Amino acid sequence: MSNNDFTYGLATGIAICAGLFSLGAAFVYINNQRAKNAKAAAHASQPLALSSIAVSDDRASTSSFVPNETHKISPDEPNPATLVRLQHLFEVNGDKLSQIAKHMVAEMKKGLATDDSTLKMIPTHVVRRPKGDETGSYLALDLGGTNFRVCEVTLDGRGGTRVRQSKHTVTDDLKNGTGAALFDFFAECVKQFLLSDDQKEVTDKDLHTNEFKLGFTFSFAVNQVSINSGFLMGWNKGFSASDCVGKDAVVLLQDAFKRKRMNVSVTALVNDTTGTLVSHAYSAPDTYVGVILGTGTNAAYVEKIENITKYKKDPAGAKDMIINTEWGAFDDEMVVIPRTKYDHKVDRGTANAKSWTFEKLISGMYLGEICRYVLVDLVKTGEIYIAGGSKSKTLSVPHAFETAFMSRIERDHSLDLSDVRTVLEDLMHIPGTTLADRRLTKAICEMIGKRAARLSAAGIAAIVTKMNKLDGCTVGIDGSLFELYPHFSNRMRDAMHEILGFSAENIVLEQARDGSGQGAALIAALAGKLTA
Ligand code: GLC
Repeated sequence: MSNNDFTYGLATGIAICAGLFSLGAAFVYINNQRAKNAKAAAHASQPLALSSIAVSDDRASTSSFVPNETHKISPDEPNPATLVRLQHLFEVNGDKLSQIAKHMVAEMKKGLATDDSTLKMIPTHVVRRPKGDETGSYLALDLGGTNFRVCEVTLDGRGGTRVRQSKHTVTDDLKNGTGAALFDFFAECVKQFLLSDDQKEVTDKDLHTNEFKLGFTFSFAVNQVSINSGFLMGWNKGFSASDCVGKDAVVLLQDAFKRKRMNVSVTALVNDTTGTLVSHAYSAPDTYVGVILGTGTNAAYVEKIENITKYKKDPAGAKDMIINTEWGAFDDEMVVIPRTKYDHKVDRGTANAKSWTFEKLISGMYLGEICRYVLVDLVKTGEIYIAGGSKSKTLSVPHAFETAFMSRIERDHSLDLSDVRTVLEDLMHIPGTTLADRRLTKAICEMIGKRAARLSAAGIAAIVTKMNKLDGCTVGIDGSLFELYPHFSNRMRDAMHEILGFSAENIVLEQARDGSGQGAALIAALAGKLTA
């Protein structure tokens, strides 16, 4: 379970690769999208194009499913009526995306002034981004969702980093047990990490005599009162450990270290989005937004302190501060985003029903589950898996259809969709699928995956518009969806064009890696300089 994989990575190399990747992707994108861009140009005349009306091409793609009178439906094709019905349910066209982005800008403004907004807009107390010349070696902990990591990050002063890390699975028992057990587990992982450093030869005695400083990336909504203290507002992403909500996450961690007689002090409490922004800015200084598209989703960005009217502290001469938007809770009042009955079912099955509902339309923790509910429904109506749908017990198990399966299904371009068959027949235990079944399954994954990408693009469009950065900036994006889910980034770029017109060309969406580890270390290291 606890797997010590010591990894040494050079972030400069990674950043160069990420840059090349994004350039390559942009090039392909530009070629593929020339026709669309011509259309978008008609709508791109205003600088803040959120008010312009953009046209989605989704309907055009739907129409290819609609048979005309002379077209006979092959038995290998899914039922066009089913496809059109589902397509209509999951479609979020360009007009709707613009409305969503506009509403998000309004909620952002509201959240900067009061606590009465779906967007929490949490001041992080991080007031500067790094310059890239910082040096030294620092400890960071990262609790994101699925994994917990302990990292030692060495900054080389030229925008590069080297990381030694250990990675551990956080089991469901830990996520849903007592808070003390969860935090004891973290402290134990840190202890083992420190003791296993061959070069420093740390002993048990050193653990309570030497002082170890660390940055803690705790990727949940906390009411952050200073750079190293913040009260957990509520759990999400499948966590419900007791006695934590309303408590200071740093105190919970420090107490666990005390129980192990370890002299560790937490100098920074960081959200993963803030870490991503800061660490990406270390190698790409034009980074103003950090986004996570993984188990959960969220974004942080740089805001002018004078606009954060609810922030009453003295910013000590600083002009800007990173804001953690907690966009996972956007539209929890459900006024702008169309929801399907499947989304409501997913929401009802979570420990935090009716909250973080934007996250539940987008992130890796939920996409597979939305898909599963659609499939279960189609089995009931006899529209899919006629031969074996009702025989599969696995299909009725919550979360059995993983988002990683959708990724695999979307990646299958074989004529008979053989890998889709493997997923359905071997992993989901649905015997005797037809080609039409597999095509329909793939189309459903595309609809759900595409909606997620488009909604997250609407969020980014809102943020760059709010920052007034439509003339250019970089968005560092970390997380398995952006990195691994097929077409996710291109679908986001398409949607950005539909919302922002040609201004979208100025916004660089770039793969960020390990912002959670490196960002926390950077912020902890530079606490005096980067924070207020
Ligand atoms: C959840 C958390 C948020 C975090 C995101 C991505 O939405 O509330 O703090 O940034 O997941 O991990």
